[in-house]
Parts: sequence; structure tokens; C-alpha cells
Amino acid sequence: MMSTADTVAFDVIDGIAWVRFNRPDKRNCMSPTLNRRMMEVLDELEFRDDVGVLVLSGEGTAWSAGMDLKEYFRETEAKGLGATRQAQRESYGWWRRLRWYQKPTIAMVNGWCFGGGYGPLYSCDLAIAAEEAKFGLSEINWGILPGGGATKVVVDLIPMRDAMYHAMTGEAIDGKKAAEWRLVNEAVPLAQLKDRVTEIAKVLLEKNPVALKATKDAVRRVKEMTYDNAEDFLVRAQEAANSYDNDGRKEGIRQFIDEKSYKPGLGAYKRG
Ligand code: COA
Repeated sequence: MMSTADTVAFDVIDGIAWVRFNRPDKRNCMSPTLNRRMMEVLDELEFRDDVGVLVLSGEGTAWSAGMDLKEYFRETEAKGLGATRQAQRESYGWWRRLRWYQKPTIAMVNGWCFGGGYGPLYSCDLAIAAEEAKFGLSEINWGILPGGGATKVVVDLIPMRDAMYHAMTGEAIDGKKAAEWRLVNEAVPLAQLKDRVTEIAKVLLEKNPVALKATKDAVRRVKEMTYDNAEDFLVRAQEAANSYDNDGRKEGIRQFIDEKSYKPGLGAYKRG
């Protein structure tokens, strides 16, 4: 029997928290045990000073083969409605936590990504896939609708016709197609995946962290707002960000206008 701690692995190296689904024998499908452990790991890492970016990937050949059909669905259902609702709260809970995470997040999709896996995929701010990875809304293949937010994820991210086809046929697509559909930002050969993700993480590590958190939240929030509401929200959000860091932007202006040491159009200012 695997201990709770084993279902999620992580290391923190040079400002990057590498968090991994760690049930490779089960293609990293999400059991209630894994979901509970993931919330603990996210808790532990979120406000650590040595963590600037979180990367979510999977051990072995899978990113995540979605919900665990045995432990999450069958065994939970057998325990009754209370257990089902608890299992839903625990999985949806860590995905929601990740959607609004303090640090920027990158899904590094190294392999299989199915069904419930679309929840954490969407939660990550950016997603980079291996060309060899396979994505699918496999729910229809075993007889349910794409739940756990997965239907919402595809409708939010990809065009309606593609979303409908994807959900109704259950056909898997590779990483290249996922990038073409904008389910992920880009796809690179698996052998280059970690280097590419590290490169992007380093770009993020150079930015003002208060501004990054404000920006990622703003992108998600304004999607559902009218223009006028968004305009107002962005003013308030920046003013709120100023209460955490009132000097960063002034320093950014100073280094450009007075010191002429960098150009904002071409890169980030140097933080103290
Ligand atoms: N739930 C429960 N168990 C799962 C699982 C899932 N979602 N995905 C994989 N597993 C288990 C298998 O039952 C198998 O267990 P066993 O070794 O005890 O027999 C083990 O993981 C390895 O899976 P296997 O199917 O042999 O691996 P594969 O590499 O040949 O195929 C997949 C990988 C992902 C294509 C295949 O496992 C699969 O289709 N999984 C289900 C995907 C899915 O529909 N997820 C949506 C759930 S919402």
C-alpha cells in the first residue's frame, strides 16, 4: 500500500517547484488519496520564499490519466453520497486552489492527459506539452459526460466545433494538435520539454511577483466581465497590488527613464 506522501513528488530547484503526479503504475490517475496529498503539497509550497514558479508534471509515461475509475468513482460511490461529495470537494478543491495560486504555474504535459486531467490542466496558467503526449475526453468512451469541469475547460479554451467533436467522439489528439487547438500554449518534442519549461519559468522568475499574481488573476477574472466592469476591476486590482508592493513599478520607471539600463519593451527591470 502506497503511503499518502508517495502519490505526489516534488523538488524545489533554483526557484522552481517541480511537482509531479506520482502514481506512474496507475498512469497518475487521481485517487482521493492523491487529491488530498496534492492539496497538502500546494499548501506547503505556495508561500515559500524559495518558490517563484510551480511546474506540474507526471512521473512515467503519463501526465494524468484522469480520475481513478476504481478509487475515485467505484469505491467512493459504494460508500454513498457523502463520500462522493467529499471526493468531489477534494479534487475540485485543489484545482480551484491551483487556478488562483499565488505563484505562476505551468502544466508540463509529458504524456497521457485524460478526462479529469483537464481540471488541473486548465488550472495551470500556462501549459506546454510534449508533441508525443495524448489528450482526450475519454468519458464518453466509458459512459459518462465530461464532468469535473472538463466540458467547461474545452468550451473555454477551444472553438465550439472542436470542443463538440472532442467531447462526443472521445478521440485522443496529440500534443501538436492540442497546441493547434490552443488547449496548450505550445508543443515541443518530449526530449526538449523540460528545457523549454525551464526557459519559460526563468522568464517568469525575473518578473515582479506581485505584478505576476495580479496579472494572472486579472486574465481569468476579466474573461467573464463586461468591458466597463473589467476596466474598473483592473484599476482596483492594480491599486490593491500597490498595497503589497508600492515601489516596484516606480523602480521599473526609474531604471528606464533615468538610468536607461533596460527597455521594458524588451525585458524586465532588475529587482533589488
Ligand atoms: N483509473 C483507474 N485506473 C487506471 C486509470 C484510471 N483513470 N488509468 C490507468 N489505470 C490503471 C490501469 O487499470 C492499470 O492498472 P493495473 O496495472 O493494476 O492493471 C494501470 O493503470 C496501467 O494502465 P494501462 O491501461 O495498462 O496503461 P497503458 O499505458 O497501456 O494505457 C491509458 C494508458 C491512459 C491510455 C489507459 O490506462 C486508459 O485509457 N486509462 C483511462 C483513461 C480515462 O478514461 N480517464 C478518464 C477518467 S475521468
